Amino acid sequence: MTSLSVYSAAAVVLAAGKGTRMKSARHKVLHRLAGKSMLWHVLTALRGAGIPPERTTIVIGDGAAPVRSEVERDFPDALYPFVLQEPQLGTGHAVLTARPAVPTDAETIVVAYGDTPLLRAETVTALLEQRARDDSNGIPVTLVTGVLENPQDLGRILRGTDGALQEIVEFRDASPEQRAVCEVNSGFCAFRAAWLWDALPRVQPARSGEIYLTSLAERAVSSGAGAGSLLLDQIGEAVGVNTRPQQAEAEQILRARIAAHLMAHGVTLQDPATTYLDASVEVGRDSVILAGTHLLGSTRIGADCEIGPNAYVRDSVVADGCRIFLSVVDGAELDRDVTVGPFAHLRPGARCGRGVEVGTGSEIKASTLGAGSKMHHFGYLGDAKLGVNVNVGAGTVTCNFDGERKHATRIGDGAFVGSGTLLVAPVSVGTRALTGAGSVVTKDVANGAKVAGVPARAIGARERPEARKDSTDGDDARPST
Ligand code: UD1
Ligand code: CA
Repeated sequence: MTSLSVYSAAAVVLAAGKGTRMKSARHKVLHRLAGKSMLWHVLTALRGAGIPPERTTIVIGDGAAPVRSEVERDFPDALYPFVLQEPQLGTGHAVLTARPAVPTDAETIVVAYGDTPLLRAETVTALLEQRARDDSNGIPVTLVTGVLENPQDLGRILRGTDGALQEIVEFRDASPEQRAVCEVNSGFCAFRAAWLWDALPRVQPARSGEIYLTSLAERAVSSGAGAGSLLLDQIGEAVGVNTRPQQAEAEQILRARIAAHLMAHGVTLQDPATTYLDASVEVGRDSVILAGTHLLGSTRIGADCEIGPNAYVRDSVVADGCRIFLSVVDGAELDRDVTVGPFAHLRPGARCGRGVEVGTGSEIKASTLGAGSKMHHFGYLGDAKLGVNVNVGAGTVTCNFDGERKHATRIGDGAFVGSGTLLVAPVSVGTRALTGAGSVVTKDVANGAKVAGVPARAIGARERPEARKDSTDGDDARPST
């Protein structure tokens, strides 16, 4: 019965409008929700329903070069055709402008608006299914509609006494009685391609001078074929964002949806209302996300982690069993069972090996800490490479910048860096070496050596590891005598 399939469909995404109601220098469809542009969400829904990028034509306006470059950056593997609509004479005109770029073998044309970030793949699929049913009944157009308590300035759906859809009247053209109707046009719709390309060029401009795509409903009705509709329960999903308050509302819905998805996959969210999760974030089973936490960008969190309260994690990879408490982790990589915080700042290029412990007030940039290393208290590591089981005492600082250039610091396996040590880079501290409290290390320290003072000088060899009581606490930084 339903002979049409997604493989014969193509999409047109309208994104040429100026979006003046956003009062922004930025193009409307590039405004972000849950870390991604409105357009990203729409394109992802279409792709998720099986309409491939090369069959999805994006209509952009003059001065919309940033739209194109942002899509190309967001989807490096995809080839979306772009079409320039200039001047912008309405949604119908926009679809007509797209025609030369739409595949000629397409039997169904889906039209989506670039300002509908809540659109889901499931809804695209539901529209395609309704389109197939309508098509087999000879109906050439299918519109997604819904009922809203407060429909504001949306186009109204007018039906006859028999319930059949008769026309869409735009808010600005509607009479008071028509404005009282609560069924609205979402703008998301689909057409039989042959009918669309025949009917669209004949649509006359409305009183506003624009060529409305919505005029096609009345055309289908007056031709006797009729117009079909898919009534959505949650119509808010398909209605566009035109203003900043609508953007904030949509962001909340999107956030609730991402939270629900994670919870359905075995993640605990202590307080979804104060948890900010970007659309692309992944979290493993039995991880617990505590209140006030932001997980952003390409962040991936493993299983059995505890993140928060008040953690800010961006573009980072966190393996299983980690704990991040009241801290900022940005562009970092944590191996299993790492603990961070409170009040730590891991910056891009920070890499912590298995079981590393980073404590209060520590800042780490472009540095690697080998497995089991500990930095329990305030300090700074920049451009450093630490071996395994290094103990970094409180207040240790890598002086990596000489005013002109950055220099590297290397610290060997099992080294013990005393409290308040300043490591003037480039410099290295050997395996199992020890620096005394307050040392200013300006020269490389040999393996197993013990240095202290300003500048640091050798004061003998470090005692044999077996003789020393194993300390795990970084504040114990007195050189033993
Ligand atoms: C449109 C619908 C309205 C529906 C509402 C739902 C029409 C005529 N009206 O109104 O029935 O209730 O969406 O959100 O379709 N665009 C272009 N080129 C143009 C004009 C618009 O690409 O020449 C794009 C815009 O960038 C936007 C989309 O089309 O992404 C919709 O345009 P917009 O001006 O927001 O239409 P609405 O007034 O919201
Ligand atoms: Ca709109």
